[in-house]
Amino acid sequence: MTGFSADWLALREPFDLAARAESAAALDLRGMATRMRGNGQVLDVLDLACGTGANLRALAPSLGGAQRWLLVDHDPRLLAALPGVFAAWSRAQSLHLRSDDQSLHVEGPDWNAEVRWRRADLASALDAVPFAQAQLVTAAALLDLVSASWLDALFERVRKANAAAFFALSVDGRVRWEPVIEEDEAVHQLFAAHQRRDKGFGPALGGEAPALAAARMAAMGYGVTQACSDWRIEGLPMLEAMIDGVGSAALEQGPSAHALVQAWQMQRRASSPRSCLRVGHVDLLMLPA
Ligand SMILES: C[S@@+](CC[C@H](N)C(=O)[O-])C[C@H]1O[C@@H](n2cnc3c(N)ncnc32)[C@H](O)[C@@H]1O
Repeated sequence: MTGFSADWLALREPFDLAARAESAAALDLRGMATRMRGNGQVLDVLDLACGTGANLRALAPSLGGAQRWLLVDHDPRLLAALPGVFAAWSRAQSLHLRSDDQSLHVEGPDWNAEVRWRRADLASALDAVPFAQAQLVTAAALLDLVSASWLDALFERVRKANAAAFFALSVDGRVRWEPVIEEDEAVHQLFAAHQRRDKGFGPALGGEAPALAAARMAAMGYGVTQACSDWRIEGLPMLEAMIDGVGSAALEQGPSAHALVQAWQMQRRASSPRSCLRVGHVDLLMLPA
């Protein structure tokens, strides 16, 4: 789960979409887009840590109207996979797609998006990213990977651009397995500690990310709305991937807890046909004053 392969991002995408549907009612994304567009025709959107572009696929239809996106990630394999993922998505959604080597143009029923992408290491080269043009800065499943000082550096750039910000799907530390087993809590503690390891941006915020982000942006004068976008996972293969991923991270964090983690994984696998996992996430919409 820490490798961010295209396969893992594809596996989680339907769960992300279902979770975002839960938060959508509380967040006026279209109103935000209309306001940020002002008198202009096109909304300029900057998507940080884009992976293969799932955030655009979820968000563009909600924003409506004409959009111009720049997608940024440091992983060349994910960026290389992006056009193919968009082609498959456009076919499945009956959207019109035009593409060349450097850009895509997607047309939906009441929206269209010009899409470009760029490779950049956001941890070491945030200044290489063109924040000044953005009216909306967005990211999905990023904030829990970064440190407080990196978040401050990001928010300073968002504020300077007078942009809105929308951060989807930040984990907030809530995890609930059904049925509960005795080892859940100990394994969760190890997993949460692993989430706070440095992912290249300094000590990661993990489950503290959404509360800290909301407080920091509010202190900068932004209006902040937040809504839960929890994963609800039942059935294979996602449940299996979570048991594997949580177990591996817990073991890496606490090698001496080997027996406990193995026992947890065995029980979890045995009960997975009748299990359900809820993972707490938060979506944050932040508007400049
Ligand atoms: C959990 S994935 C989310 C991807 C995508 N936003 C989505 O919702 O599917 C985290 C993303 O952060 C990217 N990432 C991690 N470290 C990065 C860095 N230093 N610079 C740019 N991107 C980074 C990874 O390549 C990966 O695509």
